[in-house]
Amino acid sequence: MNRRIVEVGWDEEQNRLICKLPLTTPTGKVRVKRNDQPIATRQIALEPNDLVEWQIAYRDHYGNPIELGLLLLLGYQQSLFLRDELTLLRQSVERQEVFWEEVASVTIETTSNEFAGFRLLWRKHPVLVQSADGASVRIEVRHRQRGVGFQAMVYVFVPLRNCLPRDLVGRPARPREQAIWSPPVSLIVTLVRAFAIGSRSHKNDMVTLLTGILDEFS
Ligand code: ADE
Repeated sequence: MNRRIVEVGWDEEQNRLICKLPLTTPTGKVRVKRNDQPIATRQIALEPNDLVEWQIAYRDHYGNPIELGLLLLLGYQQSLFLRDELTLLRQSVERQEVFWEEVASVTIETTSNEFAGFRLLWRKHPVLVQSADGASVRIEVRHRQRGVGFQAMVYVFVPLRNCLPRDLVGRPARPREQAIWSPPVSLIVTLVRAFAIGSRSHKNDMVTLLTGILDEFS
């Protein structure tokens, strides 16, 4: 099992989806933020409003569903999504023709402030946010590492107060500790929409993912 993939599963006892978010590997796709800054979870006591930031993926290198892909698949198998709902979601994704990555821009603001003889500028990055049932989804844009233009990045933010175990809050994280979070259906739908408006290639991947699920269990 690739340790960089967040484990997603079905909780038989409580009849719900669960994600196991690692709290102590800040170099991975999950980290904990306070006031938008990553914190050292093993060193300081965690607070209820600290946010677990998860750069969620949807498939692995072989094209197999992971993370969001698995949440959709498991959710469909367990009837959290009806067939008609997934079909309508796919239809709305297919109709998306304007992409944030292509219209977003990063701006520079000049100021008259200085530091040690240097002029201060502010660089502003746009962030799209949508909250759903105790968590939120953000779409950020970054300059492409290679080439020109921007790249849309999708993140989930989950407050620790909505995670288990309850005693996570008020103490530092233990070695390799994970926060257990149960993603609501509305948030999963918001994530699909976020990828679909982020870029054309993510949109096409969402159509492929939803079609794969609908075809496999028709
Ligand atoms: N590709 C796979 N997952 C991604 C994410 N969360 N943001 C941007 N690109 C991705």
